[in-house]
This record gives sequence, structure tokens and C-alpha cells, in this order.
Amino acid sequence: MIVHIVIGFLWFGIVCYASTPGDRPRFGPLPRCAECVLRESIIAPGVGFDVTPSYGTAAVRFHNGSIVNVSADAEHLSLMKRLSLESSRPDPQYPDNLWDELRYLARLKKRQLRKRLGLPATPQVEILSRIISKLHQATEMRLRQTISAAAIALPLLPGLTQEDITDAMEYAGLSSLHLYNYFGYFTETSATFAGMGYGLCADPGDVDSCEIENAGMERRYILAAGLSREWLSVVHTVRTDANTGWELRSVMDFELGFAAREGYADQEKYWREVQAKMLLVAERAVQPFDTVLLLGEEASNETFLRVLRDTFWVPQDQESTIMGNRDPDVPLYVAARGAAEFAKRAQVSPWGCKEPASCMKNRLQHGEGVELFEAQEL
Ligand SMILES: *[C@@H]1O[C@H](CO)[C@@H](O)[C@H](O)[C@H]1NC(C)=O
Ligand SMILES: *[C@@H]1O[C@H](CO)[C@@H](O)[C@H](O)[C@H]1NC(C)=O
Ligand SMILES: *[C@@H]1O[C@H](CO)[C@@H](O)[C@H](O)[C@H]1NC(C)=O
Repeated sequence: MIVHIVIGFLWFGIVCYASTPGDRPRFGPLPRCAECVLRESIIAPGVGFDVTPSYGTAAVRFHNGSIVNVSADAEHLSLMKRLSLESSRPDPQYPDNLWDELRYLARLKKRQLRKRLGLPATPQVEILSRIISKLHQATEMRLRQTISAAAIALPLLPGLTQEDITDAMEYAGLSSLHLYNYFGYFTETSATFAGMGYGLCADPGDVDSCEIENAGMERRYILAAGLSREWLSVVHTVRTDANTGWELRSVMDFELGFAAREGYADQEKYWREVQAKMLLVAERAVQPFDTVLLLGEEASNETFLRVLRDTFWVPQDQESTIMGNRDPDVPLYVAARGAAEFAKRAQVSPWGCKEPASCMKNRLQHGEGVELFEAQEL
């Protein structure tokens, strides 16, 4: 049985730990950037990818948008199955003795050497980069322009490392976009949250006002429930702003995907097992969920929604506020859309510093950058 459970996994931005709502989580002011954000970067479309075990979707955050999806090949699916196992965690993960240090360095050197030879850093980087390449090409075709950077969202799996993701993006000819204060890849739940428009500050170009706004955001207790033909995923997470959260418990199950129900003589039995997985994740929740996020191309199935509703006592009249994205097609694209939003935000606010106020003033004088953050439905 391929199941992975993370208990008490902490997930938050490097400098962005909000202990109580209202406190701005910063020890010192953010340094000033040496230069203004380039105009190309300001007007570039924000491209976001969501890579799941069985398919990938891409969304573009622009004045107007476009969406594409591609399906993953069998090798990608089996790679993700493997990476969902606890045993796939890289070893050694945190070298703390000389021997581990040497093994770690050897691994690093091998990666660097392969990259210098034009090879993917590891075989799994090659597999991962295939779906990214497909998304890259499909998006370029739709936009009719070349794309050199994108933000990527992926499920949080024990064997999936930042290193592999960055290298896979690079091998696909893309650099990874990161928010100014956070260097990791985006988890699917944070991207889905952002894709729903939750936890996003109004003016991402102004880091200070954003941090103050983020700190005042209410904490949401979230169940992210995903159903695709190949997998069932259930994640319990608590979030304030879109990129600050704790992934408390999660299951990625490849035996309870929607297609697996065909193997059950009694369909209700399949749904009872789905429900049992949800309860496994929910049983330690300290607060009732106030938000349900749906992802995966089968997540709008009415029976799946019924199971969710029955399991968590969602009153029917509150269903639209609690399960905001149950319309068909939304769960398939919502995480890519969130990643695209992150991408656009990353493009206007550079890594690790704050743009001097004069930059925006200059742009406004030249009539540029004003329209940048008009809300836009894809
Ligand atoms: C986006 O806007 C351009 C013009 O600015 C227009 O030509 C194009 O059709 C629009 N695309 C969509 C999908 O609305
Ligand atoms: C992608 O979208 C097409 C329709 O545009 C759909 O037929 C296909 O099933 C989707 N792929 C996946 C993996 O959901
Ligand atoms: C939802 O799932 C059930 C299986 O329990 C299936 O019979 C039904 O056709 C599905 N609905 C859609 C719209 O796919």
C-alpha cells in the first residue's frame, strides 16, 4: 500500500513566521534592492505550473489569461509514487558527521558533473523535467512568446527535493520564480489557496504594506482534498497568508484514485475507504475546518462532495463558502492559477530585498506599471 503520512510537518517562509495574528514577523527591515525591477520583468506574464502525479496544468497571470493542461506519462506517475514513500527521503538529508558530509559532497559533485556534461542531474530530474517541458511548450504555444521563468507547485512528498525541482526546471529551460522572502517550491495546497484568491495582499509591489496586511490575516483551518483518476490526496493545513502555513498531516494514496473504484463490486465500499482516509487526516485537527480546498480533475464529482459533506458536517447552505471551488474544471486548474499569481508577484518583488520607492514613482511618471495588478480572471 502506497501511503505517506506527514505528521506535524512545519512549513513556513524563512523570515515569515507569524506567531499570533497581528504581529509583523520581522526582526529587522528588509534591505533595499540595489536596482529597480526591470521593465521586462514587470510586463512579463506570470506563468505558473501545477505538477501532480498524473497530470500538469499551467496558468498565466496577465491582463488576460490562458490555461493549458497536459497529462503525465507513466514514468512520471511511478516516480511520484516512489517519491511519496518515506523510504525515498534522500540519504543523508542533513549531514552531521564527516562520513555523511563526504557522501553528501560526492552526491553534489556527481550532480554538478552531469549538469556540466549537459545531462540531467539525476535520472529522476529527467523524468520530472519531461512534464515541465511539455507545460513549457504548451504555454509558449498558447502565448506565442518565449518563456524563461515560471513558478511551480507540487505536492509535498518525502522524496521530492528542492534540488531536483530546481534542476528539473533548469533542464526544461526555465528558471524557478520565488517570492521575495521564500526560497522553496510552492506546495499544491498553498498554490490552491492562492488560486482561490485567499491570503493575497493587495499590493505585492509594496513589501512593507504586504507584510503588515499578511500579519493581520485570519488563520484558516483547511482541508485540501484531492481526487484524480490515479490518486487521492488529503492534507490538513493551517494558513494565514497564502505562503505561510503549516502542513500538519497529509496522505497521498495511489490505491484510492477515482479509477480504482472500478475494482470494487460495491461502490459504497470504495467511498467508505475514501472517507476513512479523510478521517485519518482529520482526526487530530484541533479546530473544525472552515475551508475546504478541492483539487484534481475528479474532485467535483458529486459523490466525492457528498462524502466530504457527510464526513465534515458541511451544511448544504454553507457549501459554497466552505467549498469555494467545487465547480467542474476549477479543481483541475486552481493550483496552476495560484502558482501563476505567485509568479507574477515574484516578478515584481525581487528576492531578499525591497525596491526603493523611487522605482515605482519613476514608472508611474512614465505611465508604466500602473495596470500591473488589476485583478484578472483567467
Ligand atoms: C488578451 O488581450 C489581447 C489584447 O490585449 C487580445 O488580443 C486577446 O484576444 C486577449 N485574450 C483573451 C484570452 O482574452
Ligand atoms: C486536459 O484538458 C482536456 C480538455 O481540454 C481534457 O480532455 C483532458 O482530460 C485534460 N487532461 C487531464 C489530465 O485532465
Ligand atoms: C461520480 O462518481 C460516481 C461513482 O461513485 C459515478 O457513478 C458518477 O458517474 C461520477 N460522476 C461524474 C460526473 O463523473
